[in-house]
Amino acid sequence: MNVFITGGSRGIGRAIVLKMVKEGIPCAFTFVSNKTKADETIQLAGDIDSSIKVKAYKMDSKDPDQIEKIIEQAITDFENIDAVVNNAAVVKNNAAALMTNEEWDEVISTNLSGPFYVIRSFLMHFISNRFGRIINISSLAQDGCSGQANYAASKSGLIGLTKTLAKEYGSKGITANVVTVGYVPTDMTRHNLAESLHKFWLQHCPLKKVGSAEDIANLVYFLISPESNFINGEVIRVSGGLTYAP
Ligand SMILES: NC(=O)c1ccc[n+]([C@@H]2O[C@H](COP(=O)([O-])OP(=O)(O)OC[C@H]3O[C@@H](n4cnc5c(N)ncnc54)[C@H](OP(=O)(O)O)[C@@H]3O)[C@@H](O)[C@H]2O)c1
Repeated sequence: MNVFITGGSRGIGRAIVLKMVKEGIPCAFTFVSNKTKADETIQLAGDIDSSIKVKAYKMDSKDPDQIEKIIEQAITDFENIDAVVNNAAVVKNNAAALMTNEEWDEVISTNLSGPFYVIRSFLMHFISNRFGRIINISSLAQDGCSGQANYAASKSGLIGLTKTLAKEYGSKGITANVVTVGYVPTDMTRHNLAESLHKFWLQHCPLKKVGSAEDIANLVYFLISPESNFINGEVIRVSGGLTYAP
């Protein structure tokens, strides 16, 4: 089993890479600009188990041609890829009435078109193997979140995409599922969301705590493991029981 993870340089993507390495699974992962952080992920993976292959690729989710080339390269480098985790994403928050074309386009192209291009680039490979695991990372914002029309649309779009793939390719041994993330303190939330969100979470989450990147990585690992072979087209929340965003 080899896994391809987008956005493994930081946050949740890094935790997914490290979980895979802990479980003995080689990983190809991407970053868009933060080579120092990508190198740090490789270093941390090496500290866990230096015998497990981990390689970073610079790849912009907004560039379909680059995605195709990088994925071809990763399949060559690893000889085979069995699972893909679409984790890379951005936020550009604004009230819908004030949202610029750029804010809308950047979020939709990174968070929704990007995963589609990545999946499309893997599908023929998965079909010829008659095996593939597709995991798309969404957010509680998928059901609507104030100030995040672009992000919410991208994250709910992933659900339609995933459920379609589950139907279209299930017969080829390929499963597709969504992991819906609650709230995890990372660069994304630290830079873009007010402290009030942290407080909201502690107050309203039934578990009275925020999530960790490892909580998400554990479910992703389960979804690529043989124990989840009959799970297809599902949307699974990791949110401590909180079911809505503010
Ligand atoms: N954190 C949360 O509370 C939360 C809640 C709900 C859902 N999520 C979802 O969980 C996933 C991970 O979020 P996170 O909080 O870990 O984010 P993060 O810390 O901001 O990390 C984002 C990752 O995506 C990469 N990336 C950004 N723009 C890219 C682009 N154009 N092309 C390719 N890669 C790009 C970044 O690469 P560089 O390092 O090179 O910039 C980085 O590796 C996302 O899908 C997010 O929507 C997170």
